[in-house]
Amino acid sequence: MIFQTIIEPFRIKSVESIRMTTPEERAHFLREAHYNPFLLPSDKVLIDLLTDSGTSAMSNRQWAAMMLGDESYAGAKSWERFFEEVNDLTGMPHILPTHQGRAAERILYGYLGGKGKYFFSNTHFDTTRANIEFSGATAIDLPCPEGKNFDSDEPFKGNLDTAALKKKIVEVGAKNVAAVILTVTNNSGGGQPVSMANAREVSGICRQYHIPLVLDCCRVAENAWFIRHREAEYEHLTYREIAQEMFSLADAAVMSVKKDGLVNMGGFLALRDQASSDACTNLLIITEGFATYGGLSGRDMEAIAVGLEEVFEADYLHYRIRSTAYLGEHIRNKGVPVIYPIGGHAVYVDARRLYPHIPPHEFPGQALVCELYQIGGIRSVEVGSVMFGKYDANGGFVPASQELVRLAIPRRVYTQSHMDYVIEVFDEILRRREQVKGYRITQEPPFLRHFTAHFEPFGAPA
Ligand code: F0G
Repeated sequence: MIFQTIIEPFRIKSVESIRMTTPEERAHFLREAHYNPFLLPSDKVLIDLLTDSGTSAMSNRQWAAMMLGDESYAGAKSWERFFEEVNDLTGMPHILPTHQGRAAERILYGYLGGKGKYFFSNTHFDTTRANIEFSGATAIDLPCPEGKNFDSDEPFKGNLDTAALKKKIVEVGAKNVAAVILTVTNNSGGGQPVSMANAREVSGICRQYHIPLVLDCCRVAENAWFIRHREAEYEHLTYREIAQEMFSLADAAVMSVKKDGLVNMGGFLALRDQASSDACTNLLIITEGFATYGGLSGRDMEAIAVGLEEVFEADYLHYRIRSTAYLGEHIRNKGVPVIYPIGGHAVYVDARRLYPHIPPHEFPGQALVCELYQIGGIRSVEVGSVMFGKYDANGGFVPASQELVRLAIPRRVYTQSHMDYVIEVFDEILRRREQVKGYRITQEPPFLRHFTAHFEPFGAPA
């Protein structure tokens, strides 16, 4: 007998209280935060779906391992444990520990990049793009065309468009291509997976032109789940073996272990080649730390080593992927427009279709983010014109290509009843959809506007 209910494959040993709030209190808190949930204190949030990064609950095994942390400056036992784990997973001989993903990105892309160089990716995450552009190089996204259709049920919408890649390499000249980056899963593209067939083809093109292939592998375990269940030839491999095969296709890997490392802070850079490792190690020592700890303490390295084992456990991954789909499929069945199929770490709601009466320059995504907080105390993030909209030379507003809201699910933190609550909140979101008004920006910084901008709803009393 196969039961339909997917239970959390863990018991809870330590709990953290959530402070309940009323709609009246939330209206006040939201006004105080200038209608930008990034500015809300976390104790005023009931369910925090802002990010899946650094928000995991650690296991009893991870907490126990932290007590074994060896905090020696050089050659700590914890470094050996960390090295063995990452080396076994990636198959790469050179491992550089960093304080988080973007530090590994800065080191590698600073080394490979520079003026006149190009990077191609299925989609560059914001910090990836920022580090590449900071080096003077150009970052170009080449997502597969299927990824643009939010409704079709293609299994691997995170793939890189290999025909476009070949064309671009010829156009800019192979010697000017610093690297190709495959982001698994494709966070900015809706958390959609990349197939092994696509990774193999991209790797083949890179080898043909002698271009390094980098895996941005912060959700590589979640990606492995999709490969095993959607690519027939992989159904007999373990999730870890699938990830190992994907690493074997790449020359380097950057990882924010704040995601599939199941810890709250940390990252690494893994490399195959000695010369790159020597150059990057020099950069690591200047800003992160000595080669055997980088940006991490011994106890962090212990917890990461355990997390990277636990994340590949079949029961964990099944629960993880199915519970994200549980939320996404339930709200979709109610008529909420979402990116489909549901990705690994998050559900992405299409606010443009939810609120067709709110034009992009009035930020339909921000309207939904505020509604979710006002109605249910749920914190989410806008991924639309607040995050990516720009001004042209005449000060005219250029909206983003899509108006999404991401509901990212922290790992091992919330239970099914929390998700049932979020699903119920969407009933009210749908009931009020026609009355919802757009927003205007009243104050904004010159960079990364979404973090600190202030907003005001249209029709609000002055
Ligand atoms: N690459 C990807 C695909 C990411 O999603 C992130 C972080 C990074 C690199 C950078 O890692 O934060 O450890 O420096 N994503 C977080 C998010 C912030 O909310 O999606 P980091």
